[in-house]
Amino acid sequence: MNLIDGKEVANSLKREIAAEVSEIVAAGRPAPHLVAILVGNDGASQTYVGHKEKCCGEVGFRSTVLRLPEETTEAELLAEIDRLNKRDDVDGFIVQLPLPKHISEQKVIEAIDPRKDVDGFHPVNTGRMISGLPSYLPATPDGILELLRYYKIDTAGKTCAVVGRSNIVGRPIANLLSQKGWDCTVTLCHSRTKDLKETVAAADIVIAALGSAEFVTADMVKPGAVVIDVGITRVPSDKTKSGWKLLGDVKFDEVAPKCSYITPVPGGVGPMTIISLMKNTLKAAKKEIYG
Ligand code: GUN
Repeated sequence: MNLIDGKEVANSLKREIAAEVSEIVAAGRPAPHLVAILVGNDGASQTYVGHKEKCCGEVGFRSTVLRLPEETTEAELLAEIDRLNKRDDVDGFIVQLPLPKHISEQKVIEAIDPRKDVDGFHPVNTGRMISGLPSYLPATPDGILELLRYYKIDTAGKTCAVVGRSNIVGRPIANLLSQKGWDCTVTLCHSRTKDLKETVAAADIVIAALGSAEFVTADMVKPGAVVIDVGITRVPSDKTKSGWKLLGDVKFDEVAPKCSYITPVPGGVGPMTIISLMKNTLKAAKKEIYG
């Protein structure tokens, strides 16, 4: 069994991005600039945005966080997005989700200029991705592809079971792995899938992204399979100082011995997602996708 070390891969890519930023700055051009909009006081969102800010500093990006109060109206947020769309000194921006209930996330996503949509959530970027055109890839699917690339895991002609059909993980990763270059035969499983256990147990590659702690058990994994665990569920624990621990969607202890490769939780896919945001911001600054 080989453990996929997301921190190692993330650090390696971070160094590559930092080197490219140094070249940009040495050539007299401005460092890429990422802006994050944070609405309200959601604790997890504040932590995520803090990590993003720190990572921007580490690779040499400029970063700005716009903190808006919980009571911000949808119209006010849309007006802020419009300002960022028009600002030449902002290469890319994200609106941290979830948003307060009185604001439509879909409206917000669609208001972002696709050229600055470094989350890759705008339907124009989704459409381009599905069509195999250059686009900003969403963070988690891109992170998974980077892990497969780094460990030179052969996907061509292999079968892959993706469990979970979310817009931001399951459906995009299923689509990307079926594309030329990755060449997987993909089954996208969900809550209404018949014979889910058998389908997952037959797959060469399993991607668990349903958000249900320890759902994938040893009897559902073929010997020698590659297992990618996207789940992160916080559960109480009396063994940690914080009083809680993170569980993946895979029952790691019993599944790991059967695998050729497996991602741990934490330390697998998680550290990669921020890197994808950095990659997209660099692409935005270089006008790589839209010219
Ligand atoms: N909330 C949780 N993950 C994400 C993400 O990747 N982007 C944004 N904008 N919000 C999130």
